[in-house]
Amino acid sequence: MIVSTKELFAHAYGRYAVGAYNINNLEQLMGLFRGNLDSQAPFIIQISKGAREYTDKRLLEAMIKEADRIFSDAIFAVHLDHGDEASCLDCIKSGFYSSVMIDASDQEFKNNVAITSRVVKAAHKKGIAVEAELGRLGGVEEHISVKESDSRLTDPNDAKKFVALTGCDSLACAIGTSHGAYKFNGSQSLHFEVITEIQKILPGYPLVMHGSSSVPAEEVSRINAAGGELVGAKGVDEKQFKQAAKLGVTKINIDTDGRLVWTRVHREYFKNYPKEFDLRKPGKIFMTEYAKYIVHKNSMLGSAGWLKSLKQYLGKRKTKTI
Ligand code: G3H
Ligand code: 13P
Ligand code: ZN
Repeated sequence: MIVSTKELFAHAYGRYAVGAYNINNLEQLMGLFRGNLDSQAPFIIQISKGAREYTDKRLLEAMIKEADRIFSDAIFAVHLDHGDEASCLDCIKSGFYSSVMIDASDQEFKNNVAITSRVVKAAHKKGIAVEAELGRLGGVEEHISVKESDSRLTDPNDAKKFVALTGCDSLACAIGTSHGAYKFNGSQSLHFEVITEIQKILPGYPLVMHGSSSVPAEEVSRINAAGGELVGAKGVDEKQFKQAAKLGVTKINIDTDGRLVWTRVHREYFKNYPKEFDLRKPGKIFMTEYAKYIVHKNSMLGSAGWLKSLKQYLGKRKTKTI
C-alpha cells in the first residue's frame, strides 16, 4: 500500500526512523520489497533525478505499481530524491509520488525559500508532501559534487524561519554526513548537538538525514579483494541511527550501501566464475543479499517490526493530512 510520508512520519516520530532506499532497477526493487517484508518494516522508495533518466521514469513507476500489487502487505511511500524545481513539478503532475524533495540547498537562503515555496504550493494543491534542504552536505551525487570546504551545517534558527516561510513538511538537515562512499575524512563527524537544537526549536517536526550509508568495512574489503579499488571508504556509524530517531530524525537516506552490495556480488561472482555470462545468476544472488542487507539496516534504524502497528494506526485515521 502506497501511503503519504506524512502518515509514516507521524507514526515513526521519536520512536524509529524510516529507511529511505534509492532504486534504479528491477533487482533492487525485488530485494527492497523482500527485505522490508522479511523485517516487517515500513519504508520509502526513493527515485532520484538520475534514476528517472537512467532508463525511462515510466518504467520505474510501473514496476513500483506492480510490486505494490504483488507484495500487498508492504506499506511504503514513493519519493523523488534531490529534485530540482522542474523534476518536482513533473512528479507532482504525475500524481504517483507521495512526496518530492526540492533541493535548492546550493542557493542563498532567500532563493531557497522562494523556490521551495513554489514547489510546496504546487504539491499541497495535490496532497503531496515536500521535503526541503537547508545547509549543505558534502560529497558526490550524479549531478553535483560539493567540496568539504563548501559544505555547511544547518543553522537551527534558520531552520525554524525556513519551515515557517516555506511550509515544507520535512527538512533535510546537514549535520556532518556527506553523500557517497568517502565520508568523514579528517576531522568530520556527526553533529548531534545540531539536531538536538533543531528538535528543541521545532518540536514534533520530522527531520531527514541524508548521506547515511554506513559503508561497511567488510563490504569494502570484499570488493577490493575481488578487484575493486575503494581506498579510504568510510561511512556513518549505524549505531547512531536510533539516537538520531529519538531526536526527531524520521527518514534516513541510504543509497551507497546498496550500490556496494551490488558491486561486491557482481565482482565476486565474475571473479569466481570467469567463464560465466548469465546475468541472472549474479542477479539472483544480489536480490537475496540486498534483502538481507535491508533486514539488517531496518534493525539498526529501529523500523523493523512496526508494520502491524502502522497498519492499525492507518486504519484508525480517516483522512490524509497535508
Ligand atoms: O543523494 C543522492 C543519491 O545517492 C542519488 O544518487 O543522483 O546518482 O541517483 P544519483
Ligand atoms: P549515501 O550516499 O550515504 O547512501 O546517501 C544517500 C542519500 O542521501 C540519498 O539522498
Ligand atoms: Zn541525499
